[in-house]
Amino acid sequence: MGELIKIEKLVKRFGEIKALDGVDLAIRRGETLGLVGESGSGKSTLARLLLGLIKPTSGSIVYRGSADTRRACQIVFQDPQTSLNPRIRVGEAIGEPILIHKIMPKNQINVRVGELLQLVRLPAAYAARYPHELSGGERQRVGIARALASNPEFLVLDEPVSSLDVSVQVEILQLLKELKSRIDLTYLFIAHDLSVIGYLSDRIAVLKEGRIIELDGAAKVLDNPREEYTRNLLAASFRL
Ligand SMILES: Nc1ncnc2c1ncn2[C@@H]1O[C@H](COP(=O)(O)OP(=O)(O)O)[C@@H](O)[C@H]1O
Ligand SMILES: [Mg+2]
Repeated sequence: MGELIKIEKLVKRFGEIKALDGVDLAIRRGETLGLVGESGSGKSTLARLLLGLIKPTSGSIVYRGSADTRRACQIVFQDPQTSLNPRIRVGEAIGEPILIHKIMPKNQINVRVGELLQLVRLPAAYAARYPHELSGGERQRVGIARALASNPEFLVLDEPVSSLDVSVQVEILQLLKELKSRIDLTYLFIAHDLSVIGYLSDRIAVLKEGRIIELDGAAKVLDNPREEYTRNLLAASFRL
């Protein structure tokens, strides 16, 4: 398995705060890498750096993908309520990245939007709805469809189920697993809860105060964690 992304000595400061304090990490092509850590440990900062939404203070991120980074790396946010514009219909929200990246002619976008909705197990007719006309789980499916619209090879999932009810969490996790088996994708799956991460991950990285303190196969980290901090995270999480 080759490396898709190589992160070296990554540091990000916000004024006095060192959100990331020297992260070295390789993300392998095709894997699901889980990233876990308590709130404020730097997870979303790493996500935003990977997407190029913010610039590192120092260190580097090298992307070895086949397409341009902006198109090939996409993110699904925690709260689809705030990540979707309430005044924009679902179909337009999903079609927007296709339009921006000029992936296909305008007159083909509606068909593609219908396909993407079906891919995330929503009726194609949902294209005409507004975000408030959907349940939380349905909105997150729209968030996923939108992320997939530009045919990415790398998806950052930043706590994609944290704002959802437990039963809906399981549905979304199952969908993400199913999508990965159907499409060539690499996932960075972020959560503060180890049980959520264990369901999907091949490897798990543990982030504490901006540093990766543990990184190993998922079963190893879940069944036999090396660090006290990881054991505490495990104790705090509930089993799905
Ligand atoms: N734009 C910002 N300005 C100032 N501080 C920030 C900013 N973004 C994040 N931080 C700080 O960086 C640290 C890591 O935050 P974040 O990456 O969001 O953590 P996590 O996603 O693990 O909860 C926190 O102390 C947070 O307050
Ligand atoms: Mg976060």
